[in-house]
Amino acid sequence: MNPFTFPRWANKTRQLAGVVIGVAPVYLTALVWYGFSPKTTDAGYQPKQPVAYSHALHAGQLGIDCRYCHNTVDRAAHAASPPTETCMNCHARIRKDSDLLAPIRQSASSGEPVQWVKVHDLPDYVYFNHSAHVTRGVGCVSCHGRVDRMAEVSQVESLSMGWCLTCHRDPAPHLRPPSEATNMSWQAPSPTFGAEFKKANNINPPEDCSACHR
Ligand code: HEC
Ligand code: HEC
Ligand code: HEC
Ligand code: HEC
Ligand code: HEC
Repeated sequence: MNPFTFPRWANKTRQLAGVVIGVAPVYLTALVWYGFSPKTTDAGYQPKQPVAYSHALHAGQLGIDCRYCHNTVDRAAHAASPPTETCMNCHARIRKDSDLLAPIRQSASSGEPVQWVKVHDLPDYVYFNHSAHVTRGVGCVSCHGRVDRMAEVSQVESLSMGWCLTCHRDPAPHLRPPSEATNMSWQAPSPTFGAEFKKANNINPPEDCSACHR
């Protein structure tokens, strides 16, 4: 065989490579477009809940701290939903005959937890950790909006990959002292606060794929 001609299988490979090289950009563009598109997400999603629980009343008017109910949010990846006992701490006495609280009393006597409907839900192939954000100075309001004004919780941000990355590339405008994480109306004391806080605490959110897709 002439050493300067390709063996026959190489021709096949070149054809195949042609197909792969021709199609790959389309495929990649589609993936990236899909991943970055705000259309793939559910901003505005507001499912009906089994109990007419209002954040506007409890977190807003009554001023109960978010962590009283979501007590793992600064310690774990997942922000826990409150167990029925947390509600009964007050509702064993307050409005104890209210019809609106009947499902809570039922749950307390049967031991069956209330089936709250999940509002925010990332796909399983995305890794997200609450404590990594809350303890580094990102407040609830940056990602969930004014929950303290919501009678029913709705999703306000797209939760798309583009949304995560926009903040990861420039987190400074979203930073605050971690002690203010649950303060919905906190204002930066100066326009340069975020940039200074970022530098002083060496805050560098990851942009590599494996940070969020493990
Ligand atoms: C008295 C208890 C209580 C307090 C205080 C409270 N929450 Fe909640 N939270 C709940 C309950 C119960 C649910 C589930 C029902 C619902 O979605 O309304 C919930 C749901 C949520 C959800 C939606 C969870 C999902 O499924 O995606 C978010 C976000 C949230 N709370 C944020 C906050 C923030 C921010 C604060 C503080 C400003 C706060 N909560 C204070 C009880 C509480
Ligand atoms: C720190 C005390 C406290 C906790 C904890 C608490 N609540 Fe309340 N809740 C109140 C108060 C105060 C009111 C207003 C009562 C009134 O309007 O007179 C109220 C009102 C309500 C109402 C309206 C009742 C009606 O008849 O109008 C519902 C429903 C309710 N709460 C659900 C819950 C649920 C569900 C939880 C647990 C996730 C919870 N609450 C935790 C203090 C609390
Ligand atoms: C950097 C953005 C970000 C911040 C800051 C943030 N959250 Fe979330 N939160 C999310 C995302 C994203 C989800 C959906 C997580 C999933 O589906 O795995 C979520 C889900 C939740 C849930 C539902 C349970 C869960 O873990 O999936 C609750 C409750 C909640 N957040 C409360 C809070 C509270 C309270 C704070 C502030 C102390 C807070 N969040 C701060 C982005 C954030
Ligand atoms: C509003 C700003 C903001 C948004 C939105 C945001 N992040 Fe972050 N993220 C941060 C900051 C700040 C850090 C902390 C960086 C540090 O500690 O140096 C961080 C850290 C992380 C880390 C590294 C911590 C760890 O546990 O490994 C991961 C992973 C992460 N974010 C995933 C996400 C995902 C997924 C989303 C979207 C669903 C998201 N983030 C949205 C600001 C944000
Ligand atoms: C800061 C967190 C974060 C980083 C870093 C990140 N992603 Fe993502 N990615 C997400 C989130 C969140 C989604 C889900 C978006 C949605 O639900 O619409 C996603 C979705 C995707 C999808 C769409 C999957 C599908 O359903 O088709 C692809 C592909 C993807 N990412 C690839 C990458 C690649 C490649 C990189 C590195 C260049 C990367 N991601 C880096 C957070 C991240």
